[in-house]
Amino acid sequence: MNRIQWWICHVLAAAVLSCPACVSVTGDEQISVSRAAYGKTPEGEMIDVYSLVNKNGIKVNLINFGALVSEIHVPDRNGKFADIVQGFDSLEGYLENPSYFGCTTGRCANRIAKGKFTLDGREYTLATNNGPNHLHGGIKGLNKRVWKAESDATGVRFSYTSPHGEEGYPGTLSMTVVYTLTNRNELRIDYTATTDRATPVNLTNHSYFNLAGEGTGTILDHQLMLAADHYTPVDDTLIPTGEISPVKGTVMDFTVPTAIGARFGRLGGDPGGYDHNYVLNSRDGTLALAARVKDPKSGRVLEIYTTQPGIQLYTGNFLDGSIKGKGGKPYHKNFAFCLETQHFPDSVNQPAFPSVILRPGESYEQTTVHRFLAE
Ligand code: GLA
Repeated sequence: MNRIQWWICHVLAAAVLSCPACVSVTGDEQISVSRAAYGKTPEGEMIDVYSLVNKNGIKVNLINFGALVSEIHVPDRNGKFADIVQGFDSLEGYLENPSYFGCTTGRCANRIAKGKFTLDGREYTLATNNGPNHLHGGIKGLNKRVWKAESDATGVRFSYTSPHGEEGYPGTLSMTVVYTLTNRNELRIDYTATTDRATPVNLTNHSYFNLAGEGTGTILDHQLMLAADHYTPVDDTLIPTGEISPVKGTVMDFTVPTAIGARFGRLGGDPGGYDHNYVLNSRDGTLALAARVKDPKSGRVLEIYTTQPGIQLYTGNFLDGSIKGKGGKPYHKNFAFCLETQHFPDSVNQPAFPSVILRPGESYEQTTVHRFLAE
């Protein structure tokens, strides 16, 4: 390393360490990681639950069905712990899980218009499992697959290879989803994928958060900040129109902390509520703050950092109490919010949106960090 390189390296390192928006994510600190049998799928595959517990008592449970997050226990401002994600008490609930609680979703999270796209001159047809559209990877997406799991002293690495043609997608797609819990109270998710043919990829996690504790009521009073000056308007089947519109002066504006439900009355739509992709201000692929949510009663705060260009705000609009979750509790409308870090919905049909096409020899990489605080 010459002198100039040495200086560039050290100045950059100092800038990263002093930047309040940068999360240190070395992930090499030891936590407690344990494994237990969780259940068996109808096909006889064994499913395990992995419990990650950090030195502050924060606990995250993961299962290798759907590479999903089943529990997150974090303290409030008085040190009282609660599980802040919706889910089920046993594998049976996750086998159906029509609302995708906690799942890794893909191959393409969110919607693809009419389940069709053209790539390199060839048209592909996917399942239409959401009205006229394709949603969250199809009828048996990644959320319904059994993933291989390997744990170490910091977390769990799930891997799954989706064969060419699965759910209509081209290419053999090899994916890993690595969950790391740090002693700085961060749950980090690193996604990778490689393919042997060009194919669209857009992975995310679909956790449903309620910072007051899952199943305890609506999240309408949670204060939300999104680092997004723009969003992608949608048609009445929730497919982006292709416009990128400013949020300023509209009910979509969360650039300053605002109660999630404050402007529900002016939102319109049926069933109403937010189900929109926000265009993050930071879109250069670096890990940057995308969202901050605070429950004013408990003081619990969730910050989300991501390398992705978009984030879907979904306020549990389709929940109607018919799903009985943990402890048999019914999950009603707006009992949770999702913040799904992603590329924009239907990107594969929108040439002006950032591309989701992965080609042989390339590597898909995505990182999202959930940071838990109380104040
Ligand atoms: C996403 C979608 C919603 C809904 C949920 C799952 O967040 O944007 O419209 O389909 O998944 O119920």
